[in-house]
Amino acid sequence: MSLRTIKPNIYFLGSQDWDRILFDELITIPRGTSYNSYFILGSSKNALIDTVDPSKTHELISKLKNINVKVDYIIVNHAEQDHSGSLPEIIELYPEAVIVTNERCKELLKNLLFIPEENFLTVSDGESLSLGDKTLQFLFTPWVHWPETMVSYLKEDKILFSCDFFGSHLAESQLFIEDTKTIYSPLKRYYAEIMMPFRKVIVGNINKISKLDIDIIAPSHGPLHKNVEYIIGLYKEWISDRTKPEVILPYVSMHGSTRVMVDHLIESLMNRNMVVKPFNLTNTEIGDIAETLVDASTLIIATPTVLTGPHPLAVYVTYLTNILKPKIKYLSIIGSYGWGGRTVEHLENMLSNLNVEIIEPVLVKGQPRDEDLEKIEKLADKIVLLNKSINMVSK
Ligand code: FEO
Repeated sequence: MSLRTIKPNIYFLGSQDWDRILFDELITIPRGTSYNSYFILGSSKNALIDTVDPSKTHELISKLKNINVKVDYIIVNHAEQDHSGSLPEIIELYPEAVIVTNERCKELLKNLLFIPEENFLTVSDGESLSLGDKTLQFLFTPWVHWPETMVSYLKEDKILFSCDFFGSHLAESQLFIEDTKTIYSPLKRYYAEIMMPFRKVIVGNINKISKLDIDIIAPSHGPLHKNVEYIIGLYKEWISDRTKPEVILPYVSMHGSTRVMVDHLIESLMNRNMVVKPFNLTNTEIGDIAETLVDASTLIIATPTVLTGPHPLAVYVTYLTNILKPKIKYLSIIGSYGWGGRTVEHLENMLSNLNVEIIEPVLVKGQPRDEDLEKIEKLADKIVLLNKSINMVSK
């Protein structure tokens, strides 16, 4: 069996997971994913960079057997099991291999996978490891997306092995990204779910790796980046404070009253040339909402009052928004209630992570009347006005 070569003596040993549809038992990944492992043949030492998800260990072993050389080092950039999960079997097969990682990652691997202390060589930030004619340098990039995450830079070949950083959930037959249009959405969705909560910290990590001379970024999910400027540019835009004048409108309605308000708001916004993206929460993939949260300016949550508070589907999307920490600037709540309740209070209390301006919510008793729909019109006016001021600031 031939191996996929990235550059001479540098091989792709990853696995495509065409069938996976759910990640973290939470987010749907409609186009599958991959677990990328790499192998570097040095003139004096060889190194395996990360492993694969346990479900694909047999494929990694088969590729390693095909190379049929000694494994001197196993570099672990990140302890999460979709990259480290094969380690127990790999070190059993290659007992002489030394696991190279940082102190924090070592502690995680000892707890998550019961890897013995004596298997490790720990490195510090900026430290290098010689493979003879090739040199790996380790740079700590915490919180992309765990505290121990680091990247490995192969100096002579100018390849950055970035693990989750710059990854995408996309199973793909091509090794490299050939068409940025195809990859844009998987990259953005991945950023939204995995990286967005750490937007502020990523600024420092981007600055750190920007000092390197990089030809190829080789992440541990999705195809590799030859167009380094493209992916770094996307990340710089996503982590910036700039937003697009767009309204995200997740909604749920039990008997149609909230839906009347939603439809009226959509129409009002469209009539004012405002981009609006409604999501019916009874049939929406949560990843679709997460993706739009990356750069939209405005979130309007529409929910009826169930018993004393918001509908559970609205609670779910609000909770998720709060933990993903998008950079939205404006937020409001609309909906219908029967006899009272604390819907607004419940939802606002769930949004403590967000630095947003709350636009006066519109809560209506029963079916919306003409005067209620006028309030929706006023809400649309306010949204448009606020978004105009954003555009003026960013110009
Ligand atoms: Fe792809 Fe954080 O593991």
